[in-house]
Amino acid sequence: MKGIILAGGKGTRLYPMTKAVSKQLLPIYDKPLIYYPLSVLLLAGIREILIISTPEDTSVYQRLLGDGSILGVEFSYAVQETPRGLADAFMLGEDFIKNDHVCLILGDNLFYGQDLTRILNRAKALEKGATIFGYPVKDAHSFGVVEFDKDLNVLSIEEKPQNPRSNYAVPGLYFYDNDVVEIAKSIKPSSRGEIEITAVNNVYLERKLLNVILLKRGMAWLDTGTPEGMLKAAEYVEAVQSRQGFYIACLEEIAWRRGLIDTAQLRAIGNNLHMTDYGQYILSLIN
Ligand code: G1P
Repeated sequence: MKGIILAGGKGTRLYPMTKAVSKQLLPIYDKPLIYYPLSVLLLAGIREILIISTPEDTSVYQRLLGDGSILGVEFSYAVQETPRGLADAFMLGEDFIKNDHVCLILGDNLFYGQDLTRILNRAKALEKGATIFGYPVKDAHSFGVVEFDKDLNVLSIEEKPQNPRSNYAVPGLYFYDNDVVEIAKSIKPSSRGEIEITAVNNVYLERKLLNVILLKRGMAWLDTGTPEGMLKAAEYVEAVQSRQGFYIACLEEIAWRRGLIDTAQLRAIGNNLHMTDYGQYILSLIN
């Protein structure tokens, strides 16, 4: 399975913070926002990851993340000339996806919870169709919203409905079979001029191939779309890390625990960063 992170967009809702800097590079406490969705792909066991960003920002992501070899994975990059919508990722990524299945995660989505790896494995195991997630929120109308019956059959999925049919928002994490590339090509832009991911999911729904996994209250899916959301997410990360001593989204730790890099490689990274708490944390893992 391939992974795609979409880190494009203008981030206008966060101006002036994002006027000169890509949103997904802004810090959430002690690391750039994009580390959090990247950690999800690594936890899902995905090794080939395409990072899509704007013409101005792609080189900055390359400087931050390189080719991935330091983490034992492969990063590649693609430029999205204009923000044409989430489903554009599958067209930009067509040559990268080839005949594989693909997981798309939005570069500003932060997930954390005990069950996460198990849930990701379950979603990844699906052979045909698509798997999306549902997460209970108070203000579902600002998201994609999924409605389902008691057996978790999806009844509808709507993009930012005025009157949501459920309080389950669809987070920015999606698993698809290879048909997604052809489906994305068939989608016409919505009224806001975007090729909507919800339209893609609706095609899978019509084909009776759309699965939903509900994320329970023990899982955190945090919003980073506003300054307040960013602050709350940062406070959450700080609280968990300082209380437990375990870091959220330490990519080097995940790579090491999964055997993608060995202890000598981890030590070298830690030594390079030894002047920071992040580096000290990495070194502490070895002892
Ligand atoms: C996008 C999707 C929406 C989804 C949300 C999750 O919204 O269109 O369905 O619920 O991401 O973050 P956007 O961020 O483009 O407003």
